[in-house]
Order: sequence, then structure tokens, then C-alpha cells
Amino acid sequence: MQPFGDAAIAQAAALIRQGLPVAVPTETVYGLAADATDGAAVAAIYAAKGRPRFNPLIIHVADLAAAERLARFDDRARSLAARFWPGPLTLVLPRRPDSSIAALATAGLDSIAIRVPAHPAMRALLAAAGRPLAAPSANRSGSISPTRAGHVLASLGGRIPLVIDAGPTALGLESTILGLVDGEARLLRPGPIGEAELGFSFAPASGSGSGSGEITAPGQLQSHYAPSKPVRTEATSAGGDEWLIGFGGIEGDVTLSPTGDLAEAAAALFDRLHEAEAQRLPAIAVAPIPKEGLGIAINDRLGRAAAARET
Ligand code: TXA
Ligand code: MG
Repeated sequence: MQPFGDAAIAQAAALIRQGLPVAVPTETVYGLAADATDGAAVAAIYAAKGRPRFNPLIIHVADLAAAERLARFDDRARSLAARFWPGPLTLVLPRRPDSSIAALATAGLDSIAIRVPAHPAMRALLAAAGRPLAAPSANRSGSISPTRAGHVLASLGGRIPLVIDAGPTALGLESTILGLVDGEARLLRPGPIGEAELGFSFAPASGSGSGSGEITAPGQLQSHYAPSKPVRTEATSAGGDEWLIGFGGIEGDVTLSPTGDLAEAAAALFDRLHEAEAQRLPAIAVAPIPKEGLGIAINDRLGRAAAARET
């Protein structure tokens, strides 16, 4: 683990050029970044995470011009990029056939997920590496995303050569993913930027990609966020064997936000879940979170955490 600074970025860029993945903070969660143009480097991400290779990665670039070399943008995509980049919005767009991205990074699809991150560490690494970086969340596949360098070490320690530490991430939830591949806008993953902010209505997301064989956002698989203990949502008090994560008026053993602030709750969510996993109590309960604004993305992640243990 290295604190974010010039030395850490230089070391990380050297590792990226050698084809190795490194963990780096973004404004959403910590990512595991590698050279997206190098198939072996991308394979090393899948191996470190234990991630199934049919689940494609988000490609991170420095700006819209770099993104336009990888994907076809229409006017709507361009205006969304102008409004929300750099920031926590991922666009899934038709992949340019001549793009330099390794096929493995997009799991062989003819679409590509791209975002321009805002965090200075990820931006510095993109500049120093001078190439697009594939970066999923820096955790073992199926576990809770990391919002601190310590979470990354607990999940991937010994499997990756470097974690850059810049403290807890500001937003705490993975980026909003918007699909724009077939003329229709689909919200593939709710996130920090809500539907109201995006400013238009969506065709229903076609789900997990099971059945038709079509992959939309495999992150939508119910099992994607699986804590090691059962999670009960909408809890107004704790059962005898439960660690209660409160919100607003429901105090709990700890709280997502004592004042009921949704941005504070989003930033704290994965940290509180990681903490809850470390308790002696065998089960986790979470207070109700309003299903509006950022609460939609928070409830989405909690719903997956709860569903993961039901099957
Ligand atoms: O905030 C974030 O987006 C973080 C930081 C590190 O940037 N990254 C992240 O990556 O959450 P990951 O791999 O954990 O989630 C990426 C999601 C997956 O659900 C994947 O299936 C979906 O993006 N995805 C990637 N390419 C896609 C594509 N071409 N079509 C549909 N979904 C895609
Ligand atoms: Mg992930």
C-alpha cells in the first residue's frame, strides 16, 4: 500500500506498462486497473478477482476525445458526456471495430462501457500510463465493493502488486450505467447520478442477460453483491442475532446517517457492510432507506445483498 502521490503514480504506471493490474481509488469505489489494450493484462484482472470472463469491464479514459476513439457517440451520448464527465456515469455504446481495446475487456461484445473518472489519483494514472485502463471494482468477484484501501487489501491482498491509498471514496457507490446501444436509453445500473438528473425516461432494463443469452449489465445479476452473512432490509429493530445498521430515526449499532442524509448514507454503505461482516453476530439488518434520489441506488445494492443469500 502506497499513499497517493507522484511516487505512487510513477510506480503504478510502470506496473501498468509491465502488464500488471494495480488498485487505485476513483470517486465511486476503488478500481483494479490494467492496460485495456493488452489482453494478458486484462486476463490478470479477471484472474485476481476470480471474475467470470463473460462479465465485461468498464474502460476508463481521460476525456471525451479518447472515448470517441473507442466507441460511436451520437448527439445524445455526446451531450451526456459533456454534462457528466468527468464523473460517475458509465455509458455503454457501440464499440468502434477499429478500437485498440482487447476483446477480453469487453467480453467479446460489440458494445463497450466507458467512463471518464473524476478522482485525481485515477486521472493521474491515466495521464502517466497514457492508455485506456480497464478497471472493475477492486474486490474478489461477488463480494462487496471497496471504498477504502484497507477493503482492497482484505479482499485482494497478495494477489496484486500495489494499492494506492487516497482514503475513503467520496461517493461510495459504483457509477450509474446507462446503455445507449440500440437507440433506446436503458438504465443498466442505478448509481450516484439518478434518473431525474439524467433527465429522460428509460426503457425497462432487460435484466441479467440470462435466458436470451443477451448480456446487458451482468452486474445486475442478483448474486453480484454477496456479503458473507444474511442481510435483512427494511428492519426497524434488531433481532437477537443481528447487527443493525441504522438510518435517520432508527439508531442501530451503527448508522448510515444519523440525520437521514442520503449522500452520507451512500458514502458509508459499503464501509458499514464490511464492518458488519466483521462482527461476531451472524446476521445483518438494515433500516429502511427512502426509495428516492440516491436512495434508489442504495436500495438496489441492499436488495442484491439480501437476495444473494436467499438462494
Ligand atoms: O464506479 C464504477 O463503475 C467502478 C469504478 C472502479 O470505476 N467500476 C465498476 O466496475 O463498478 P465493475 O466491473 O465492478 O462493474 C462494471 C459493470 C458490470 O456490471 C458489467 O457487467 C457492466 O459494467 N458492463 C461492462 N461492459 C458492459 C457492456 N458492454 N454492456 C453492458 N454492461 C457492461
Ligand atoms: Mg464490481
